[in-house]
Amino acid sequence: MSTGPRREPPHSRRYHETATQPELRLPAGDVTEGVVRVGDTVRRPHQPQSLAVAEYLDHLERVGFPGSPRYLGRDDSGRDVLTFLPGHVPGDPVEPWATDERLLTSVGRLLRALHTASAGFAADRGFAAPAGSTWRRDLVPVHLPAPEPQPELVSHLDVTPQNVVVRDGEAVGLVDFDLAGPTTRLTDLYNTAMHWVPLCAPEDLRPPWDVVDQLSRLRALVDAYGATSGERSSLLDLGIARADVSWERMRASAEQLGGGWARMWRAGVGDMILRRKRWLVSRRAELAAALV
Ligand SMILES: Nc1ncnc2c1ncn2[C@@H]1O[C@H](COP(=O)(O)OP(=O)(O)O)[C@@H](O)[C@H]1O
Ligand SMILES: [Mg+2]
Repeated sequence: MSTGPRREPPHSRRYHETATQPELRLPAGDVTEGVVRVGDTVRRPHQPQSLAVAEYLDHLERVGFPGSPRYLGRDDSGRDVLTFLPGHVPGDPVEPWATDERLLTSVGRLLRALHTASAGFAADRGFAAPAGSTWRRDLVPVHLPAPEPQPELVSHLDVTPQNVVVRDGEAVGLVDFDLAGPTTRLTDLYNTAMHWVPLCAPEDLRPPWDVVDQLSRLRALVDAYGATSGERSSLLDLGIARADVSWERMRASAEQLGGGWARMWRAGVGDMILRRKRWLVSRRAELAAALV
């Protein structure tokens, strides 16, 4: 694979083309316009959080985490260049194979590996973004109903099916670190469970998710992640509390950033978050029993 210069700090790293290759459209995600594949690389528009993300990806590379793209620099058009991770990525809506339990448990293990690899990164500066960059979250000022918990690490925070690379039925890679930032392990685990169990009201379970057993999948994911008993007993209350935070953040992103965020908001994501919260509250006892 052509990797271009790798030793410069992210802000001065340039990617030099080694050959002229066609640009192939990648499946559109929710938010980022213009993500394309060129040979062994992916090009994404440069964003305010790009250099903070690049520094995090450099850290993951340094500690030998195999499941994240490498940041190769910026190309002649100023786009971010990352390595392409070969494999299958679930579409939207997901294909039936994406609901397989073996895939779910491999997602839990991959998240654990990411958390282990992320430990210590940026801890000496309180997980702040590097000078000249920002975490995506700090781009959208929002008045939160409750304070965010004290961060323990930097992590991905958007482990949706469309951001997971699958080989031989198992999750081997994570892409799209746009929302990465300071957080807690439990927040990232809850977020991952939300997308992969999935945790939502039954009326929001679109095929092929409409036939899955949410209780047993929650248990399987949390077991595969290796959650402690303390984490298991806090997970649901965290999810219930997060609903209000997510609602505020989604609304603020829709208002301030527009684009895909506004589209999701118009499509009713805010109401879905509130239905999820009501469902978590009403099924709390059963879900809690499934977790221990
Ligand atoms: N580094 C990569 N390796 C392999 N596939 C990728 C990579 N980056 C993106 N993709 C593919 O392109 C899709 C959209 O890119 P993504 O970075 O997730 O954009 P968005 O922010 O719009 O979700 C992903 O769902 C995945 O299928
Ligand atoms: Mg994505």
